[in-house]
Amino acid sequence: MNFKGRDIVSIKDLTKEEILHVLDVGGEMVPIAQGKEKSDLLGGKIMASLFFEPSTRTRLSFETAMKRLGGEVIGFAQPGATSLQKGETLADTIRTAESYCDVIVMRHPHEGSAKMAADFASVPIINGGDGAGHHPTQCLLDLFTIRKEKGKIDENVIALLGDLKYGRTVHSLAYALSLFKVKMIFIAPEQLQMPKEVVEECQSMGAKISFETDLENAIEGIDVLYVTRIQKERFPDPEEYNKVVGIYKIDTKLLKKAKEDMVILHPLPRVYEIEPDVDKTRHAAYFRQAFNGVPVRMALLALVTGVRE
Ligand code: NCD
Repeated sequence: MNFKGRDIVSIKDLTKEEILHVLDVGGEMVPIAQGKEKSDLLGGKIMASLFFEPSTRTRLSFETAMKRLGGEVIGFAQPGATSLQKGETLADTIRTAESYCDVIVMRHPHEGSAKMAADFASVPIINGGDGAGHHPTQCLLDLFTIRKEKGKIDENVIALLGDLKYGRTVHSLAYALSLFKVKMIFIAPEQLQMPKEVVEECQSMGAKISFETDLENAIEGIDVLYVTRIQKERFPDPEEYNKVVGIYKIDTKLLKKAKEDMVILHPLPRVYEIEPDVDKTRHAAYFRQAFNGVPVRMALLALVTGVRE
């Protein structure tokens, strides 16, 4: 297994063994991520964090991961303050940034942008989300969370709920879960169902998938409920967004029908999908999930920079 110098553009770039290795190394990183142990594993390394689109968890957890491992961070979260404003191309921005750092983490509104950056750069590019395309590091932390919360990934019924059309986290997660022995239920209104090409590719990998529009119909059989936000910013027509906003709402009444040990994940941010009083229930795992971004991203940074095998 050799991660050194690799780009992580899509979860499909990794084999199942490689995914499990990242999760194992992530497990070792937990005490450092919690600040209980010190490490200088990434001492002398610099990560460029190039965020062309809003982010809270992805950017902050990557930066925390780098700093907890003794590395340094440069970058921007407001592309308006960079030369892009003067008309510089993404390619030129990447070519410049790569000469300042050892690894680039980027998020961009255009699908395919991370792939393009990877073609230009010689340092590893880690995709922190490209439009409605992929979000491989979120996927790794989602798998890490499922394994931690449920003890294993296999043999779970995992429902992906909400905006499966525009949600990049669920695209990546559907591909990854196709490598495991799970049952997936895609719960969405017709117009926001999982893109056909994603479904077909998952099925060709052997995935067992069923489709649903009504959450109440399915809730009883679910082990892991992965909730997503309706991706307002990706709707070409605001009228279409207005038709589906608030369509699913997880509240304590609905949860009475759920299995005792069903866990709720959400990549966050949530808007209307989960009522705040669900946070206190035993089902809520989404803030632990957000923490898991730190050890998993530590693992990935250490692996692609080659300081850890
Ligand atoms: C997600 C994203 O940006 O795709 N957030 C995240 O990275 N944790 C989900 C979303 O924005 O809805």
